Amino acid sequence: MLKKLAEVIRKKPMIGWGIFLASMVAVFLLGLLAASITERRAEIATIVANRIDQIEPGDTRSENYKNNFRREYDTWKKTQEMDFRSKYNGNAEHDVLAERPEMVILWAGYAFSKDYKAPRGHMHALEDNRNTLRTGTPENPGDGPQPAACWVCKSPDVPKYMHDHGIEEFYTHQWGDLGSEIVNPVGCAMCHNSETMNLQISQPSLIQAFSDMGKDITKATPQEMRSLVCAQCHVEYYFAGTQKVVTFPWKDGMTMEDMEKYYDEIEFTDWTHGLSKAPMLKAQHPDYEVFLLGTHAQRGLSCADCHMPYKSEGGIKYSDHQIMSPLKNVANTCQVCHRDSEENLIKYVTDIQDKANEIRNRIETELSKAHIMAKKAWDSGATDAEMKNTLQLLRQAQWRWDFAVATHGGSFHAPIEIQRILAHSLDRSLQAQLEVQKVLFAHNITDVPMPDISSKDKAQEYIGLDMKKEVEKKEKWIETVVPKWIEEAKQKGKLIAEK
Ligand code: HEC
Ligand code: HEC
Ligand code: HEC
Ligand code: HEC
Repeated sequence: MLKKLAEVIRKKPMIGWGIFLASMVAVFLLGLLAASITERRAEIATIVANRIDQIEPGDTRSENYKNNFRREYDTWKKTQEMDFRSKYNGNAEHDVLAERPEMVILWAGYAFSKDYKAPRGHMHALEDNRNTLRTGTPENPGDGPQPAACWVCKSPDVPKYMHDHGIEEFYTHQWGDLGSEIVNPVGCAMCHNSETMNLQISQPSLIQAFSDMGKDITKATPQEMRSLVCAQCHVEYYFAGTQKVVTFPWKDGMTMEDMEKYYDEIEFTDWTHGLSKAPMLKAQHPDYEVFLLGTHAQRGLSCADCHMPYKSEGGIKYSDHQIMSPLKNVANTCQVCHRDSEENLIKYVTDIQDKANEIRNRIETELSKAHIMAKKAWDSGATDAEMKNTLQLLRQAQWRWDFAVATHGGSFHAPIEIQRILAHSLDRSLQAQLEVQKVLFAHNITDVPMPDISSKDKAQEYIGLDMKKEVEKKEKWIETVVPKWIEEAKQKGKLIAEK
């Protein structure tokens, strides 16, 4: 390849000059980016030196930062808005199970089959965590169903609590025990050192994951930090051991296969499937890991380049803290680097999302069918030995599907990687059907009638959920228990009203 190129350049020197010039332009552009970041750091130091209010070290109450950093605070607050829907994402809440009832089947036996909504902005993180049916209705200390780990990606109060009481102490609790302690949604202290306002990692699991890979996160460059602050939460993780400690499965690497290998080696399962009895894995949201495999990461971009673009107000440049879909704001995001129309840029994004969605839809049909066929096989007297291969394929197919789907921006961040993973999922889903078909034939079953799962309600009824009871109980709990938590937090001074 290189030899050929050398040959071409020897024959047509202009091509060599062309390559040289193109490289110079690329180096110049990267230099501009680096220079602009350095210049920003000097500006930030001035802003920090001229602060109005003294802020307690590590203060988790974002309202206390308002007077010093009004632009960042005001835009951060806008993450509560719900006014934008792109073709597949956006900041408005929508019920994914109602849109895709087959997902109820895929998550049978697991709390996600009860309730799963599309993500909203950071200001809603705690409200949504409290209100989802998945966190149940704990009333007394020690009540389940969820461990303290479920708070970890929602609030700067978590690292603060760990700092004050010890990491181990935090994990001795159930989720419900800490309702009046974890009360401020994803905010300033999660990403910044409150004294210098430098970016800072406050999530111990990320620091640990780096050290397990033999890396020192304090050596990260400023540009890397503009992604790593997001990697505190937008990653794949699991709850390890009886203590349910949030742990990132990165020891063997960060690809889908590396993480699967890690889970297989420790024989980890999140739950046993309610229909097929397969030992399942639930993917979280490997946004950071998938992003690293795409063009933009490989050209040195960070999350903040598209999700927190620079804005100007009265000659002052600042980072837009309304973290959301960049498609709301193409002029300040994509168009900073790409000379293309807004229409074309959006079309590029939705076109690749459409392609991933095509395969996703096929998987949801075939994989849910495979789980239902496996149930029929068990019901017809299949043995563990007969079902072994099917269950393994179901685990693999669903891990691939979930990994690709749960990383909501993945089909844009790294389109080829997501298509690759989805293709493997569809392949394994069909292989699982072939395997279970053999078992069914051995038990003289030639036909498996499919249940009506055309709506969320029907699918939930089929897997045996009594949703009416669940919803009523939760609604009562939201009215009675949550206000007590909030009141207690205010009395303890952990939560304050806007200044
Ligand atoms: C403390 C954990 C945490 C950190 C740190 C964090 N996020 Fe989030 N992020 C969340 C949670 C939780 C949600 C979903 C909130 C909800 O639906 O209630 C979310 C939602 C989002 C959304 C969807 C918003 C929408 O309007 O639909 C985007 C985009 C996003 N985060 C990007 C980022 C980026 C970029 C960073 C780093 C600059 C980052 N996040 C840092 C936890 C975090
Ligand atoms: C999810 C992470 C995250 C949260 C939450 C967050 N920031 Fe930032 N902030 C960033 C990133 C990333 C930058 C860009 C830093 C850089 O380029 O070096 C930034 C930059 C800043 C700067 C430097 C000036 C600028 O605008 O570029 C200030 C000041 C700041 N943030 C204040 C705040 C305040 C106040 C809050 C809470 C209301 C907050 N931030 C919440 C990630 C966050
Ligand atoms: C900070 C600069 C920057 C921003 C912001 C940015 N890009 Fe890019 N983009 C790049 C660079 C650099 C490349 C790689 C170009 C190359 O190697 O030819 C790229 C490549 C692409 C490509 C080609 C993809 C490929 O696989 O080669 C598309 C399409 C694209 N960007 C769309 C977008 C969209 C849509 C947005 C906004 C959501 C966006 N970009 C935001 C710098 C940026
Ligand atoms: C080159 C621009 C670009 C970069 C860099 C980038 N993203 Fe995105 N991101 C997008 C686009 C475009 C979408 C799709 C938005 C849509 O469909 O409305 C998206 C979607 C998302 C979503 C889902 C948003 C929603 O509304 O549900 C999350 C979460 C997210 N990105 C997180 C991240 C994280 C974390 C990083 C860094 C590891 C990152 N992004 C880096 C452009 C980018």
